[in-house]
Amino acid sequence: MRILLVGSGGREHALAWKIAKSPLVKELYITPGNGGTEKHGKNVPIEADNIPELVKFAQEKKINLVVVGPELPLVLGLKNALEEVGIDCFGPGAFAAQLEGSKAFAKKIMHKTSVPTAAFEVFEDYQEALAYIKNKSFPVVIKADGLAAGKGVVIAQNLEEANTTLQQIMEEKIFGAAGKRVVIEEALQGEEASFLAFCDGQRVKYLPSSQDHKRIGEKDTGPNTGGMGAYSPAPILPDKDMQKVGDMVIKPIIEHLAEIGHPFKGILYAGLMLTAEGPKVLEYNVRFGDPECQPLLMRLENDLVEVMLACVKGELDKVELKINPKSTLCVVMAAQGYPGKYPKGMEIKGLEEVEKDPEVMVFHAGTTQKDGKYYTSGGRVLGVTALGKTLMEAKEKAYQAVDKIYFDNMYYRRDIGDKGIAKL
Ligand code: AMP
Ligand code: GLY
Repeated sequence: MRILLVGSGGREHALAWKIAKSPLVKELYITPGNGGTEKHGKNVPIEADNIPELVKFAQEKKINLVVVGPELPLVLGLKNALEEVGIDCFGPGAFAAQLEGSKAFAKKIMHKTSVPTAAFEVFEDYQEALAYIKNKSFPVVIKADGLAAGKGVVIAQNLEEANTTLQQIMEEKIFGAAGKRVVIEEALQGEEASFLAFCDGQRVKYLPSSQDHKRIGEKDTGPNTGGMGAYSPAPILPDKDMQKVGDMVIKPIIEHLAEIGHPFKGILYAGLMLTAEGPKVLEYNVRFGDPECQPLLMRLENDLVEVMLACVKGELDKVELKINPKSTLCVVMAAQGYPGKYPKGMEIKGLEEVEKDPEVMVFHAGTTQKDGKYYTSGGRVLGVTALGKTLMEAKEKAYQAVDKIYFDNMYYRRDIGDKGIAKL
């Protein structure tokens, strides 16, 4: 069959690698892809948010299945547009994608289905929001409703900070239309973990747990990023708890969406806070996490295309997920300056040496390839991912590989996995 994969990050390289392994696949296109995805298929320069061009290309190439990496095309209705021309899509339609595209929508669905989450209120009017926080104890969490590239959440420590945040989002509109509404919610205490599930519209199959590292600095300091490393499983969310937690945070949402006529086919990702009172949902994503996708796909032993087809056809009951019992750990190598301004175009060296080990994969995120050489082209550059018998061994192997790779102005955290290792 012919597959079109949409996106360009480390997640998409991991997806391309895994899709290309499937004997079902004859042709794989990636739009726009990166230096790494080119090893597994053909990159085509169409941006992930260009819905009409993506649909046109899928028709021209007689694509059988479109796999969507990032959230934006889903929120913009890529699945709906493909449906109109009879092409299958792994990922939800625009209505269900609001689970990620609108925090107010997500909170309302959680409320309706009794999924545990922080207490919240939604506001469209600045004065009303201000009056509400005046009576609150701090910290409070203020969230722009729409997509804001991971920058739309502020944990305000006092009234002044909360007011400034509300002004910026609602009056100055620093996130544009994404700030038309805000969600104000209770600040939760605990450790975060990622919970991902395959969904076929009715049924769910849970992937093992993982944990991201969102802050740029070691010991979780400094600004938030897209994610500086991840590992699986997360000892804080062990396999034995997965069924129970999934039935609490994933299943009710999938059942509700099916009931109201918007079945969710794709990956539903719950960002959890593991609080003293139990797990609570911080947010939903309607796609694989990046970087969580890299360690998770290295543990998944199934033919990914078979699993995705089962989701699209509503036949997930016929699939048994086979998970490698080893641990995996991914270290993101970034360009110095990320998540702010950073240089591009540095040559990357040492990749061939590292790629000899079958238990180590270097997933490209921000890279381009020219004449057989790789150059950096983004903030997050590589996701160096290793399997190990234990989390400790996976960490050692990943960092041994990192130490063999070099580019000017490189930056990475040295403490990926430490929180998990401390729990073992
Ligand atoms: P979100 O995009 O909603 O996941 O928020 C981004 C990050 O903000 C999360 O990964 C948490 O670290 C933090 N966060 C969001 N909501 C809360 C909350 N209610 N309490 C504490 N931290 C939160
Ligand atoms: N790693 C967090 C995310 O993909 O949203």
